[in-house]
Amino acid sequence: MQAEISRPSVVSHLGLSSSAGWKLAANSCFLALVGLLVPAGRAQKPKYTPQQIAKYRAKMRARRAKYEAQLHRRERREAALAPTPPMGWNSWNHFAGRINARIVRQTADAMVASGMQAAGYKYINIDDTWEGRRDARGRIHPNAKFGSMKALAGYLHSKGLKLGIYSSPGPKTCAGYAGSYRHVRQDARSYARWGIDYLKYDWCSASQVYKLQQLPQVYLKMYRALKATGRSIVFSLCEYGWLNPWHFGPFVGGNLWRTTGDINDTWKRMSQIGFSQSHLAPYAAPGHWNDPDMLEVGNGGMTEDEYRTHMSLWAMLAAPLIAGNDLRHMSASTRALLTNGDVIAVDQDRLGRQGYRIWRSGRHPQQDREIWIKPLAGGASAVAFFNRGPRPASLTLFWSQLELRPPLQARNLWTHQNHSLLQPAYTVSVASHGVVLLRVKPTSLVLH
Ligand code: GLA
Repeated sequence: MQAEISRPSVVSHLGLSSSAGWKLAANSCFLALVGLLVPAGRAQKPKYTPQQIAKYRAKMRARRAKYEAQLHRRERREAALAPTPPMGWNSWNHFAGRINARIVRQTADAMVASGMQAAGYKYINIDDTWEGRRDARGRIHPNAKFGSMKALAGYLHSKGLKLGIYSSPGPKTCAGYAGSYRHVRQDARSYARWGIDYLKYDWCSASQVYKLQQLPQVYLKMYRALKATGRSIVFSLCEYGWLNPWHFGPFVGGNLWRTTGDINDTWKRMSQIGFSQSHLAPYAAPGHWNDPDMLEVGNGGMTEDEYRTHMSLWAMLAAPLIAGNDLRHMSASTRALLTNGDVIAVDQDRLGRQGYRIWRSGRHPQQDREIWIKPLAGGASAVAFFNRGPRPASLTLFWSQLELRPPLQARNLWTHQNHSLLQPAYTVSVASHGVVLLRVKPTSLVLH
């Protein structure tokens, strides 16, 4: 597989000014080089001094400023479609190929009845395996599991929900169903006619017909086709992080882009993905989100502490909150995990900043204790204390490391208790694979 972007094609196909395009391409090449020098996932030594933390934070701020300068007016307009990370549900993690219209309708009913809609979830996204045959004119039709997509969209819309769908730019989807190759504009028109509100566009077999360096251009083509329909459709790019989509995503109309391969319902995979996203913090912004894949909360493969960590970490990452469990049969604890308003507020904070790690300790990533911060609107911050190790652990944070000075007001976002913090340091015991998630703010500021 080719790992670099061809410069001329990126510049010409993305319609960027040549200087912006060259800057992006140069950036990608630099990151590819760094990737070769630093083996992925290698444990970092515990080495953060306050000076190093301050330096890292300054670096994050500088990268962020550079990125914002690159988001010119057209991209900023996209922000209206996904001002905060999209929230909803997707069929794949739980149902895979067993999804059908009946389950989608029941899921919509459950989303309303369970309080998930009230908590902010609104997209019901059908993933792979809905696709049927193309007719003589080339129009795609849903297969027998789905019948009329228009009727399904109408049902969801009548409940104030939105319908998402899935396709691939290749001839076949990942599950072997019809992709949009040679039918891009036609498919976009079908989606608009049916009342679709969200498209996940999954690379899958596209490597059979396109070179990898054409990928941004291939996504741009679908974006333009969606835009030409006049319907507002959230555009979700899925290319597994292959080509650093956080660099080109906003410029091809992406509202979110997968940053990794697929998640599964294990602590190992979830934590491997979630804790490896810190360096992408500069690239999340209103309208444009890093997507570390859908939630597994409630699917049964992790403990309650582990799902709490999953939910907290995704909120710290300003990740799309796309539930992936069977909403029709949720336990009370799963529902409580998914609908915790304090945690959702961190994810959905209007500032639109992704959190990042400011401290870690441990020789192996699987045993790390980690502290992450996410800046929030109004001068507050979310601070997460994670324990990836096999035993309970104690973590200490000196507020000066965050350039904060007590007294601070703090709220524990899982126990919902408020505290006044008067000491220069905060020490907390965290369960194995667990988390303590706080919202803190200097007492002189008003909470929003
Ligand atoms: C890929 C995607 C998954 C899912 C499947 C469907 O693996 O990454 O999220 O959409 O395809 O086939």
